[in-house]
Amino acid sequence: MSDIKIQIRNLYKSFGSNKVLQGIDLDVHDGQSIAIIGASGTGKSVLLKCILGLIKPDSGSAMVEGIETVGASRQTREDVLRKFGMLFQGGALFDSLPVWENIMFRFRQKNALSIDELRQVATDTLADVLLEERVLDLYPAELSGGMQKRVGLARAIADKPGILFFDEPTSGLDPITSGVINRLIRNAVDRLGATAMTISHDMNSVRQIADQVAMIHDGHIIWQGSVKEMETVDHPVVHQFVHGLPTGPLTKYAESI
Ligand SMILES: Nc1ncnc2c1ncn2[C@@H]1O[C@H](COP(=O)(O)OP(=O)(O)O)[C@@H](O)[C@H]1O
Ligand SMILES: [Mg+2]
Repeated sequence: MSDIKIQIRNLYKSFGSNKVLQGIDLDVHDGQSIAIIGASGTGKSVLLKCILGLIKPDSGSAMVEGIETVGASRQTREDVLRKFGMLFQGGALFDSLPVWENIMFRFRQKNALSIDELRQVATDTLADVLLEERVLDLYPAELSGGMQKRVGLARAIADKPGILFFDEPTSGLDPITSGVINRLIRNAVDRLGATAMTISHDMNSVRQIADQVAMIHDGHIIWQGSVKEMETVDHPVVHQFVHGLPTGPLTKYAESI
């Protein structure tokens, strides 16, 4: 059997005249932790939403564990969505729910447990992201940005999904807190043995979380390799991005539009 968890072929998506994805090809293997890198606005989040079935691509194929999601029925898309744990940009917690209900939101829909049992699972999951039980009954507004991210991570991993998606997990966090979140993510991925896809333009985050990297540029995956290979890649666009250089093809490109 193939160990490909996610297979994307010739995926296209435009918004009006804005051609975002122009023929994306990508394979993600079972147990891999892959980072999708690229400048802001290159379509990283759009790609992720296409895989999740939250945005409808114009054409092409996105298979998750052998199931085609492009053009799939609502039921199939919901079934596929249940395979994923997600941490969205900004955390996306429900402001009106306490922490424990945020963490158990999805778990609850799948498992018939008593309130006490649910709170116990929430407590155990909080421990996985190094938060204390006292956080259970707090509301998102009472948490720091880093704690909100941890609760978002706890929610993503609560029902032990086989595939984890992280969209800009360290955006808006200071470097120390970012480091903590990166380590928690890497630990969670390793502990679950999950396949993970992280979208980021934070290279420190990429180095800590991922083992494979793919760069999106001009609607295409222009390079894919290991994190180690990324450091010495001589593709001029990838090289400039990875090392954050002020001059190079990317900045020329920015000046020309
Ligand atoms: N729902 C939408 N409707 C119209 N345009 C969108 C929508 N979502 C994203 N875009 C556009 O697609 C492009 C890629 O966006 P996005 O995937 O969010 O970039 P990033 O790589 O920073 O995650 C941007 O030009 C953005 O404005
Ligand atoms: Mg994005």
